[in-house]
Amino acid sequence: MVTLFTLILGATVAHASAYIKPRASTTYPAIDTSLKVSVPTASVISEIDISQTTYDRLTPMVDGKPFFYNGIQLRADKLQMQWGLADNEVAEMYQMVAAAGYTHVISEISWLNIQPDATFNATKSTYIRGGTSQALNFGTSSSVKVGYQKGNENNKMLTYVQFDFSSYAAAEIDAARLRFYVNLGATNGTAFIGNLYGLSNNSWDPSTMTWQNGTPNHDGVDVTGTLNSDYFVASSSPSWDLLDGVQYYDFDCSDFIKNHASKGIASFVLQAQTNATSTVGITMDSSRGAHPPQLVLSSKSTWDWTYLNKLLGWIEAAGLKCELIWFGTETTGTTMDSRVPYHVLTHVKNYKVAADGSITAVMSKSTEPMYGVYWYYMDKNDLTLRALEKATLKTLFNYIGARDAALGSPKTVIGVEVANEPAVSRFHGSAFTPWQNPATWGRLSAFATESDFVARTMWEFCVNLANGVKESNYPVWTRTNDYTSTDGPNIAYNELMRSTSGIGTSLDFVGLDPYQDSRSFVYNYGHKPFTLGQAWDFTTGKNLPVIMENGGQYADAYALPIAAIAGGAFYDVYEMYGPDNYGLYVPADATTSNYTPVARGSYVSAVIHNNQFFKKMSNDLASRLAVAAGGSTLDFYNVLGGNTNLTGSFGSVGVTYAQIAGGAGVSIKRSATELVLGANSAATFTLSGIVPFGIASVQKGAYINNVWTSTGTASYITSGNNITITLVAYDVVRVMTNKGV
Ligand SMILES: *[C@@H]1O[C@H](CO)[C@@H](O)[C@H](O)[C@H]1NC(C)=O
Ligand SMILES: *[C@@H]1O[C@H](CO)[C@@H](O)[C@H](O)[C@H]1NC(C)=O
Ligand SMILES: *[C@@H]1O[C@H](CO)[C@@H](O)[C@H](O)[C@H]1NC(C)=O
Ligand SMILES: *[C@@H]1O[C@H](CO)[C@@H](O)[C@H](O)[C@H]1NC(C)=O
Ligand SMILES: *[C@@H]1O[C@H](CO)[C@@H](O)[C@H](O)[C@H]1NC(C)=O
Ligand SMILES: *[C@@H]1O[C@H](CO)[C@@H](O)[C@H](O)[C@H]1NC(C)=O
Repeated sequence: MVTLFTLILGATVAHASAYIKPRASTTYPAIDTSLKVSVPTASVISEIDISQTTYDRLTPMVDGKPFFYNGIQLRADKLQMQWGLADNEVAEMYQMVAAAGYTHVISEISWLNIQPDATFNATKSTYIRGGTSQALNFGTSSSVKVGYQKGNENNKMLTYVQFDFSSYAAAEIDAARLRFYVNLGATNGTAFIGNLYGLSNNSWDPSTMTWQNGTPNHDGVDVTGTLNSDYFVASSSPSWDLLDGVQYYDFDCSDFIKNHASKGIASFVLQAQTNATSTVGITMDSSRGAHPPQLVLSSKSTWDWTYLNKLLGWIEAAGLKCELIWFGTETTGTTMDSRVPYHVLTHVKNYKVAADGSITAVMSKSTEPMYGVYWYYMDKNDLTLRALEKATLKTLFNYIGARDAALGSPKTVIGVEVANEPAVSRFHGSAFTPWQNPATWGRLSAFATESDFVARTMWEFCVNLANGVKESNYPVWTRTNDYTSTDGPNIAYNELMRSTSGIGTSLDFVGLDPYQDSRSFVYNYGHKPFTLGQAWDFTTGKNLPVIMENGGQYADAYALPIAAIAGGAFYDVYEMYGPDNYGLYVPADATTSNYTPVARGSYVSAVIHNNQFFKKMSNDLASRLAVAAGGSTLDFYNVLGGNTNLTGSFGSVGVTYAQIAGGAGVSIKRSATELVLGANSAATFTLSGIVPFGIASVQKGAYINNVWTSTGTASYITSGNNITITLVAYDVVRVMTNKGV
């Protein structure tokens, strides 16, 4: 979901004004010339049957059987981070998803979940100050300060901070950062550069040291000693992240920690870069403050499956299947530091290159860091990062495979969204804007237009991630979801590659997050091109049409899935319950932190009844192409309301639907002698001319594992050669004839 992006980034990042739709072409040069589409070698857990031989529609298959795709998102991360729900409360929500009749739940797993960074709060900190404060000790203060004013000793200050990371257990440290929290904005609002130095001397005492004495490595604000022996340059504030307002500030200290800090302990001094023209200074939380300085250590080879096991445990306990959303370097166009380990952020970012040649990272910062502080735009053509992320997905799915085997193969995970609402143009701009890194976007010049380059970039980016899944021991279907204001992977290009001999694709399908409360919109989605912000066609080639996120808050939410299915698409809801306020459920009273979920409206019980209704014929809904999409055996009645489309056929037998309570109907020709009828509200079906074929049985019931299970006969009246069957809401009725119609 993109709400957060709009809120936090909308103001700070200039979006491309006019998005140029990428065209599809086989002639684009490869950016990664070694990229090949991977084909699973392990037996597949799930896939899309695109042959249209056994089944007439593109059919999602799980464990070799058609799978009725009817999902809903549950964002465990938001429930816990934003609402503070306990594990048992989240587990209960998964039970509710299952009870609501969904066939699967969609939940996120982030790179940081499986490779968590280790965080150490400062164990010591203080600052020293010149002038009238030169003999004062600030060792008990909850704040530390840095500052500088030429010629005014009173405004000169240095901050000292120390960390003990001797308990760090991971194999190695690949990246490290130091994070300070500024609690009082810059002096006179003047943003300035901070210089961070690592020190060799760890024997300083914050409870006694002053500007005058007891403090290592300084002469005034100058850091003293022998460079690269007594002190080391760690990093300075980059031009796009000067010390300024009240928020967090990170300083990279990877080199110092990896190569120079003594084992398990590290001391730093932070200095305001001396400035001849203005007074600069900042106040930060100390080790005794509410947001103590933090040392964050990141390791590429450390894996932690605790969260994944917990998440899948909740899902398995509810008897659900799940699709995972991979929160890697690309979630709604950004790379959030709350979702990726720090070692990832040391890769190439996208830069804005100004006319004078100066560069600025394309990023934004959040002052509300629940979802991260730094939001970068990592370069999608950073081939080293691509390789790392692919290997990470492969490791994740290999683990899921090993876990699944150990549990007796419940096959809980059935698919993965490899990138959530991905974008290239969002940060890259359009029409050759300078938002790029010349080093990695250098291939741009090989393309005729930027939009061609965007199409190729997005395809390679997504296919590379999908390859990691396909190459694992647990291959599942792969997908991405577009948002209307982002480019997303070009559906036409993915389909062109799929159909090009010797190329293909490992990205199984692409869908949209339309957020449209419209029955006709979702109906059209599965069989027609349409315009929503731009032109789309999710029926291109062999793409499985799926509405990937649509609001759960719509009072019409019960009528949208059947309209989508009638038009040939599958349908996912955003969301079951959560702080984004799109849920079917809302908190009893969020203002008093009463997070007992309550149905948002009376429509929610109809949503649930519809799901259970679909389950009675799920194999057919999964595998038969709807009449509207060109099929012949799966037909729907009155899905748009207004008493429209009330007739169909069963061979030479006419089928006429009459709603009694405003609902929709379905008919399925299972064979020449087997017709299935269903209605999601009270209705009648008249089968005209059926009597001469001989009525063998008319029963209510359901298909369980595609086998009919009767709950009793259904009453009907005969009029001449016609019969009329009355259904109550959510009935499914099977009519068997003696002779084929
Ligand atoms: C660091 O300090 C904060 C604030 O006191 C605390 O909430 C957090 O648990 C501490 N983290 C660690 C790793 O000790
Ligand atoms: C010094 O201050 C000026 C004026 O605010 C600013 O433009 C410049 O970037 C500062 N230089 C440093 C090194 O902080
Ligand atoms: C470390 O700093 C303290 C305080 O300035 C000083 O007393 C001590 O001699 C220093 N140690 C070394 C090895 O330089
Ligand atoms: C803040 O700015 C004002 C106006 O420019 C100036 O007079 C004052 O000295 C500045 N204060 C500091 C602490 O630099
Ligand atoms: C209704 O029937 C018309 C004519 O057969 C068809 O074009 C249209 O797609 C149908 N609409 C629905 C919602 O079934
Ligand atoms: C049977 O149904 C057809 C089509 O709806 C209708 O024209 C006909 O009159 C019906 N016959 C009887 C005897 O009800």
